[in-house]
Amino acid sequence: MAATKKNIVILISGNGSNMVAIAEAAQKENWQGKLGAGIACVISNRADSEGLNFARALGISTQVLDHKQFASREAFDAALQQLIDSYNPALVVLAGFMRILTPGFVANYAGRLVNIHPSLLPAFTGLNTHQRAIDAGCKVAGATVHLVTADLDHGPILAQAVVPVLAGDDARTLAARVLTQEHRVYPAAVRTLLAAR
Ligand code: GRF
Repeated sequence: MAATKKNIVILISGNGSNMVAIAEAAQKENWQGKLGAGIACVISNRADSEGLNFARALGISTQVLDHKQFASREAFDAALQQLIDSYNPALVVLAGFMRILTPGFVANYAGRLVNIHPSLLPAFTGLNTHQRAIDAGCKVAGATVHLVTADLDHGPILAQAVVPVLAGDDARTLAARVLTQEHRVYPAAVRTLLAAR
């Protein structure tokens, strides 16, 4: 009999390149066979997320839950939680999901909700991280994989990737350099979490 499946649900809002990196690692490293884990669904709050097309091309189920159809943040999060829970997830992965989550939602997934933030936390929580790192004169930048808690961008750190800030960098070139490392560190951290579950 097959082992209990560890379902992964990935939430995106945009390009979904981190989602693709995780999906490719899962395939290449045979997470199904080795960890009993697989991506059950990719959910976007935007129907026009490019990442949805990538997910479909990879044969992954997709769902759209448009936050604009809900009267309040609480109502959206309640519907999102119901949708996510229909997949009985071992892990919920935020991959460029551009929504602030309510405390009740976060509490429901305590210990199994993970995010990647494009800075070396605890520096530069919030938005525009790359420009702020350049403006501060940082010599290195990077990304942080962390568990999500009610305190935005402050959950326990699981992994970090560091890149140099080069002379002449702008936010775009630095973001691109960081993103290549996100694609390495996020799948590795997700894999470690799944192995421990
Ligand atoms: C990444 O930089 C990630 O760190 C941040 O949002 C961006 C998402 O990119 N949270 P993608 O949608 O995975 O390409």
